[in-house]
Amino acid sequence: MHSWCVVLLTLFFITTCSSQTDQNYWKSLAEKELEEALQVRFNLRTAKNVILFVGDGMGPNTITAARIYRGGESHRLAFEKFPHVGLLKTYSANKMVPDSACSATALFSGIKANLGTLGVDATVPQYDCEASLNKEAWLDSLAAFALKAGKSSGLVTTMRVTHATPAPLYAHSASRSWECEANMPANAKQCKDIARQLVEDWPGRDLHVVLGGGRQVLVSNSTGTPEDPISAWSCYRQDGRDLIDEYRRDKEDRNLKYQIVSNTRELLNIENDIDYLFGIFANEHLQYEFERNKSPEGQPSISDMTKAAIQVLSKNPKGYFLMVEGGKIDMAHHRGRAKTAVDETVAMERAVQLAVDMTSDEDTLIIVTSDHTHTLSINGYPDRGASIFGIAAESPFDHKNYTTLSYGTGGPGSFQYDIKTIDNKTRAERREPSKEDTESYHYVQIAAIPLDENSHGGGDVAVYAKGPHSHLFHSVHEQHYVFQAIAYAAKIGPYSNGYTTKVNILLLTTAVLIKLF
Ligand SMILES: *[C@@H]1O[C@H](CO)[C@@H](O)[C@H](O)[C@H]1NC(C)=O
Ligand SMILES: *[C@@H]1O[C@H](CO)[C@@H](O)[C@H](O)[C@H]1NC(C)=O
Ligand SMILES: *[C@@H]1O[C@H](CO)[C@@H](O)[C@H](O)[C@H]1NC(C)=O
Ligand SMILES: [Zn+2]
Repeated sequence: MHSWCVVLLTLFFITTCSSQTDQNYWKSLAEKELEEALQVRFNLRTAKNVILFVGDGMGPNTITAARIYRGGESHRLAFEKFPHVGLLKTYSANKMVPDSACSATALFSGIKANLGTLGVDATVPQYDCEASLNKEAWLDSLAAFALKAGKSSGLVTTMRVTHATPAPLYAHSASRSWECEANMPANAKQCKDIARQLVEDWPGRDLHVVLGGGRQVLVSNSTGTPEDPISAWSCYRQDGRDLIDEYRRDKEDRNLKYQIVSNTRELLNIENDIDYLFGIFANEHLQYEFERNKSPEGQPSISDMTKAAIQVLSKNPKGYFLMVEGGKIDMAHHRGRAKTAVDETVAMERAVQLAVDMTSDEDTLIIVTSDHTHTLSINGYPDRGASIFGIAAESPFDHKNYTTLSYGTGGPGSFQYDIKTIDNKTRAERREPSKEDTESYHYVQIAAIPLDENSHGGGDVAVYAKGPHSHLFHSVHEQHYVFQAIAYAAKIGPYSNGYTTKVNILLLTTAVLIKLF
């Protein structure tokens, strides 16, 4: 920027001195990026630690909107500074557009599964309990392979800990809705609910960190409060079990150092010497970041949970695997509340930055990705610097404004037409957004197709990586490649004895060739 420009800027002639018209501004912006790109080196070390962030429903447009919200169009989110980026194809074994259960199974276990199933391969149709009892169909997750390698393993989520994304780390189920026994149909009685698999079975009972919501799934006849309600349509345990108490007894019996916490104060004051941490902070999912009770007696942020998880897991000299889910991004999108979804993305970004600050690039592979997109679109042509939640322009056809953000599909609050009867004539009239508070966390953008709720999208998701072997996250890949690449980088699972035969032969041949020439 020219010095006169700076002077003018400081004299608040901001609009007259627009850097957009200055070629040097654009040149230096891109030159800085080139300098950074030239400094990227492959880190060929083994990943002692792996932290995998899953922004549920965090498609590329959600990330763009979060970036603009945080600091304008040229801002960079914490993970946008990672050196390696790729794209992932998210289709499942039977659907072009996946749900979180099958896509998390692909990410964590390296096998594509059927919609609504988790921790099992595609021989198991959704709701088929009998097929899911076949142990050949069961998949081991990165959390399980990390434990087998002597590492610690844990999960953090803003959802119920038994929900679709965390569950495939430890459970095998023909339905994501079988979180507790009350939701299991008569023909699924031989199958074990997901909550019991977490507390009773391996690897669930050996996970070092479990933090999130879902108390009423774990503890029978939990009672809700107005701030922490129990919804009628999710699972509500009624078999008399108290799985949090069973967790306690299991750890006592095995003489393990553990702690059970239930609010922010307890989480922030965990003992230094514990190896196992179990925190359930709500019935149902945790609250949205903008409205959670931020007092010590309230619910922790995703950053608070990530920090505690890294503290506990990093005690293991062999390292750890941690999955962190920003689950409420997806929740907000399903309700058509783009501002809330974007704000949840920013909350997860803070947790990513914290993980970067708490670890070293030398030994920790950090990956940020998503399980699937939503149908969020960014419409033309708002001005530079405009609010991402504002109005883009007026339509020349119905002479109504439209917002920059809208959805392809949406539930009742997002229907774009008000049906009005004037002079006995029924008319459909599009909502006029300039008469609504589009900046509100509760604002529901319009959607093209009316459904019961906003659906997932089928576009590719991005994957950002830094640390050992992060260069493996490049180009366009299958979603289940993430499992292979992490296993390879950390030398766990299929790569626990070094490399597979194929890779060994490749390395050997290369060595011989280098010797010869
Ligand atoms: C829990 O609630 C169910 C249904 O309301 C009831 O049948 C059951 O007896 C209750 N169990 C306990 C342990 O209170
Ligand atoms: C469109 O929005 C602008 C403000 O952004 C407002 O001045 C204008 O009246 C709106 N148009 C209609 C048709 O309401
Ligand atoms: C609307 O229809 C009703 C019943 O057919 C009729 O009585 C009334 O006059 C109509 N009103 C107008 C404004 O046309
Ligand atoms: Zn979803």
